[in-house]
Amino acid sequence: MRRKIVVGNWKMNKTVAESTELATAVIAALGDGCSGCEAGIAPTYPALDAVGRALDGSGIALVAQNCHYEDDGAYTGEVSTGMLKAVGCTYVIIGHSERRQYFGETDETVNLRIKKVLASGMKVILCVGETLAEREEGVTGTVVSRQVTGGLKGVADITDLVIAYEPVWAIGTGKTASSDQAQEVHRLIRDTVKGMYGTEVSEAVRIQYGGSVKASNAEELFAMPDIDGGLIGGASLNAADFAAIVKAGC
Ligand code: PGA
Repeated sequence: MRRKIVVGNWKMNKTVAESTELATAVIAALGDGCSGCEAGIAPTYPALDAVGRALDGSGIALVAQNCHYEDDGAYTGEVSTGMLKAVGCTYVIIGHSERRQYFGETDETVNLRIKKVLASGMKVILCVGETLAEREEGVTGTVVSRQVTGGLKGVADITDLVIAYEPVWAIGTGKTASSDQAQEVHRLIRDTVKGMYGTEVSEAVRIQYGGSVKASNAEELFAMPDIDGGLIGGASLNAADFAAIVKAGC
């Protein structure tokens, strides 16, 4: 039985003070929480340390939104895995569609980052997903399996890796993939993993859905056989909504 995982991706939102306040509100909203669902929060880099302190002892994981694949050096604007680990991150999101779309990330650079995160002892959330044009062209399967195989090229062990299927047309648009549409792609991703790593690994890997997940649709999505939780953008900026989504995964 795969344990569900729900992560709030705060993207470029909230100051350090606002982030700390929101993290504290999430803990309060979760109350006793639920052991059935793993939860995580990905604030901005400047807020990681403060949010990590606020989350201490709550059981909620501290997650980074990205990282670089070098250890250190002349890479202005970048942050290394060592730095993220030192502030208490346990997961790093890699290959979010906004990184691919606006910051030129490719399957190759995603692959380098994944290797670096896993080697550092942190876990990875690998994001994949097709654009609206790709869906309309009928190439969703090709695109998503290329992103999975390209991202995981040469990665021997994916025990510490979660995949997030996020159709680009559903991110921040209010358009959620229907639970059947999402399930179809999740199955395809699991089959791609099966082709690479075998049945046991493919049945164990967790695949989150992301793209306009709300408290009102989380339960239906999470009930699908191959959907193992969610990566939540907009709705994670409200403590009560995010807590309700985590509870839908319990
Ligand atoms: P959204 O974002 O929930 O605001 O659609 C999801 C994501 O990009 O992770």
